[in-house]
Amino acid sequence: MPFRGSLTFPGDKSLSHRAATLAALAEGTSTIENFLDASDTMNTLHAMEALGAKVVKRGVRHFEVTSPGLRGLKSPKDTIDCGNSGTGSRLLLGLLAGIEGVSAVIDGDASLRTRPMRRVTEPLERLGARFTWLGEKDCLPVRVTGTRLNAIQFREVLGSAQVKSAVILAALASGCALHLEEPIASRDHTENMLRFAGVDVRREGAKILIAPGSVVQPRNYKIWGDISSAAFFAVGACLLKDSELLLRGVLLNPFRDRYLYALQEMGASLTILPQSDESGEKGGDVLVRHSALRGIHLTKESIPSLIDELPILTVAGAFASGTFSFRDAKELRVKESDRIGLMVENLRRLGVPVEEFEDGLSLEGQAQRKLSGRVETHMDHRMVMSFEIASLAAESPLQIEGKEWVETSFPSFYESLAQVQSLKKSGISLRTVTIDGPAGSGKSTVAGLVAKALRMNQLDSGALYRAFTFVASREFLKSGSALPWAKAVEQEAALRDFLSSVAVELRFDEEHRQRVFVEGTELTHELRSVEVTERIKPIADALFIRERVRQILVEASKKYALVADGRDMGSEVFTEAEFKFFLTADVQTRASRRLAEFQAKNPTITLEEVAAQIANRDKDDMSRPVGALKPAPEAIFIDTSSQTQNEVASTVLAYISCQGT
Ligand code: S3P
Repeated sequence: MPFRGSLTFPGDKSLSHRAATLAALAEGTSTIENFLDASDTMNTLHAMEALGAKVVKRGVRHFEVTSPGLRGLKSPKDTIDCGNSGTGSRLLLGLLAGIEGVSAVIDGDASLRTRPMRRVTEPLERLGARFTWLGEKDCLPVRVTGTRLNAIQFREVLGSAQVKSAVILAALASGCALHLEEPIASRDHTENMLRFAGVDVRREGAKILIAPGSVVQPRNYKIWGDISSAAFFAVGACLLKDSELLLRGVLLNPFRDRYLYALQEMGASLTILPQSDESGEKGGDVLVRHSALRGIHLTKESIPSLIDELPILTVAGAFASGTFSFRDAKELRVKESDRIGLMVENLRRLGVPVEEFEDGLSLEGQAQRKLSGRVETHMDHRMVMSFEIASLAAESPLQIEGKEWVETSFPSFYESLAQVQSLKKSGISLRTVTIDGPAGSGKSTVAGLVAKALRMNQLDSGALYRAFTFVASREFLKSGSALPWAKAVEQEAALRDFLSSVAVELRFDEEHRQRVFVEGTELTHELRSVEVTERIKPIADALFIRERVRQILVEASKKYALVADGRDMGSEVFTEAEFKFFLTADVQTRASRRLAEFQAKNPTITLEEVAAQIANRDKDDMSRPVGALKPAPEAIFIDTSSQTQNEVASTVLAYISCQGT
C-alpha cells in the first residue's frame, strides 16, 4: 500500500523542550504553538510548572506559559519526573544547577535511569554545581542544588547538543558569562531560540559567547513539525511502490535535515521546499516519491546531524541495493536504547545478515526482501517506528513489542500511518490556482504546464489590460484630446467614464483558449499591436482599471477553472484561490534564463547587465503603488533556481494531488 497525500507533524521535540524552558525563564507570558504533546516534552512542560510557571492549554498543542521569570522560580514540592527523556533531564540538570536557592530531585523511567548523566554533571560540577546521587552514581535520580556559578569556560568535546545546551542554560540561570567551544558542532536550536528570545548569542568560529546578565524575553513561539518524526514517513514513501507524499511544515535546520540528503544520495526522489523562517528556525515542505534506493556509507561528518535517524536509515539501507554502512556513531549505544546492538539483533532475527561494530554496522541491502519474526524495542520509540516501516516495506507484518512507546515523541504516529495509506480524492473540482513570482521565475510557463495537466484554463490577465488600452486609445484619438496619453488616462473624465462602463468580457473556449470581447466583439491581433504595447503602462497603473480587471477576473473564475499567473494573483485578485504558489529564483539564474531574450534586442548585453536590470525590476515591482509583487501569506514558495520548468510544474501538481484535490 503506497503512502499518499500530505502530512503535518506535531512540533519538533528538540524545539518543544527548549520553548518550554525559555518560556519559563522569561518573566511574563509566552505562547507556544504546535508544542509537541508527547510524553517527553509534556514532562518538560510539567517540570516548568513545578518550578513556578503557570501553564494554560489554549487549544490543540497550543500552550500559554506565564512565568515569574528566572529569579521567581522556586524549588518544586515533588520529584521532577522526566520519563524517557534524555534531553529533558539533561537540559533541566543544567538549568537547575545555576539557579541559586532552588533545589530539586530529577528522576526518570527505567530506561532513562540507565543513561549516562555524567556528561552534563561532570562539567557543571567543575564549575561549582552540586549534585547528590540518590541511586547509582552518575545516573538518575539525582538531587540538584542550584548555586551561583562563576564565569563559564567550557569545551564540549562529545559533539552533544544536550551537553552544550545544559551548560548554556546553567550560565543563563547564574547570570554569568559563557565562553563555550565546540570542536564538533552539534544542533544549534538552543542558540537560535535564545537569539529569537532576545539574548545576544555570539558565534566566533567554533566559539559561542554570551555576556553576563543576559535576559530571556517572553515570545510567541511557533514550532515547526518534527523533522525526525517525518523521517519514518520519508523512508516509507521511498520504499513503498507508487508513493507520493508531501511532508508539510517540518523543521529544516541543517543539523537536522541531513538524513534527507543522505536519502537523496541513496537515490531517493525527494524535493526540499524551504518556506519562510519561523521563531529563529528554517522550515518547509518535503515531497517524497517512491524510488529505488542504493546503499551508501554515511560519512563520519554527517553522523552528528543524522544521529536520531540512524535506525530508520538502516531500515532504508536494508531495502536498498548494495552495502549500507556507518561507523563513528558510538553515541548511538547510549540513546533511548543501545540502538546499534538492538538494531543488529532485530535485523538478524528477521533474517537480515548484519555486521556489527563497536561504533556502527554494515549490511547488504536487497530491494525486495521478506522479513519475519519478532522485534524487541526496549522502550525505544524510534525502534518501534523504524520497524513499523520495515514491516510495511517487507509486506510481512512483524510482531513489534512495545508499540505504546510511540507516546514518547509521536503519539499520533499510528493515526498518521493510517492517514497516508487512505488518501481519498475529495471529488470537488478545483476552481482556482494562482502562481505569482518575479520576472524570470518561470511562472507563466509553469502555469501553462499546470493548466494543461489539470485541463484548466490558463489565464492571461495582461490581455485584459491590453483590451482596455486598445479601446481607450481608440476613444482617445476619437476625442481629439489635447492632453498627452498618460495624463488623459489620469484626468480626462469622459475617457475614464467610458473605461468604467465599457463591457469587457473574458471567455474560454473548449480548447481552453482565452478570448476577450469588448461590447460583444472579439479582439484578437489588436491586442498584440505595437500601439497597445506602447500605451499600456498608464492603463495598467490606473487603480480604477485594476479594480475593473479584478472584477472581470473574479467573475470569470466563477464560470471557469483558472490557473492564474502574475504578481498579485494570490494576494489581491483571487484571495479565495484553493492553491497559491509563489515562485522564486535567484537573480543570477533568472538573468541567465532571460539572456537570450535580452540579447535579441541588444546583442552586446552581458549577463551581469541583465542581472542588474532584473534586480532593478524586482525593486520596482515590489514598490509599485498598485499591483505590486506580493506573496499571499499562505502562499507556498518554490525556489525554481535548480529545477527545470517541468520539475516545478510537477511539484505544483504534487501539492495539488497530495491534498486530495
Ligand atoms: C538532542 C540532541 C541529541 C539527540 C536528542 C535530542 C537535543 O543528543 O540525539 O534526541 O534536543 O539537544 P546529543 O546531542 O546529546 O547527542
